[in-house]
Amino acid sequence: MSLKPLTASFIMISLLGYMTMISNAFPGRAEEREKIKSIQLPAPSAEGKMSLEAAIEKRRSRRRFEDKALRLAQISQILWAAQGITEKGGIKRAAPSAGALYPLEIYLVVRKVEGLEAGVYHYNPAKHTIDLILKGNYQNPLARACLGQMFIADAPVCIVITAEYERTTVKYGRRGIRYVHMEAGHAGQNICLQVVSLGLGTVSVGAFQDEEVSRVLNLPKAHRPLYVFPIGYPGDWKV
Ligand SMILES: Cc1cc2nc3c(=O)[nH]c(=O)nc-3n(C[C@H](O)[C@H](O)[C@H](O)COP(=O)(O)O)c2cc1C
Repeated sequence: MSLKPLTASFIMISLLGYMTMISNAFPGRAEEREKIKSIQLPAPSAEGKMSLEAAIEKRRSRRRFEDKALRLAQISQILWAAQGITEKGGIKRAAPSAGALYPLEIYLVVRKVEGLEAGVYHYNPAKHTIDLILKGNYQNPLARACLGQMFIADAPVCIVITAEYERTTVKYGRRGIRYVHMEAGHAGQNICLQVVSLGLGTVSVGAFQDEEVSRVLNLPKAHRPLYVFPIGYPGDWKV
């Protein structure tokens, strides 16, 4: 028995609608998703206004932030300090990595940055670009996932350091886990000192529910969150 053209197209349209509904309800993880767009960051500078010694001395955990937008040049500088390529024509980065295997992946959660829409971005060190993977304000759910440390929601941006352990454990076995954590510390300290030298403030946040942070940011399964850095102009302190 053949279907009438009208009935067949009705079934097709219903099927398409159902499939769209299902894919919206269960969006793929970031690795399976198209990036919405890619933004080229301005070139970072290798010269700053503050000495390394002064940045070390001035670094303090900051948990109050002014409601003031950051500039793209500041974002570029901080991401470069975290994981930027520092070897001309090569692959080596701002922070050391066991076996140069580079297990860290950096995410940027934007609330208020001049010229950037709010959302979750993924940093690409090779191109020095950020890829928008989720649109919207994710700072509030991120703060809740960090055990309700709500100062995180007030920061204009947050950097989330994640790691794909397998890149390192495939060579170093169980000891690779230790190496990955050491590397997150290296990148985290670079972020802290770069932030201070730009006249900004941050605090290293390690208290959060891993699964909740992964869910909120829709992280690929292999990218495990290790460290969160809310960044902004410090509310109670100025350089
Ligand atoms: C691994 C690690 C995890 C931390 N987690 C948090 C956190 O979840 N929330 C927070 O407010 N501070 C956190 N801190 C910041 C410490 O409280 C802070 O570094 C400490 O009080 C020393 O103060 P200082 O950073 O100003 O020198 C963390 C620091 C480290 C090193």
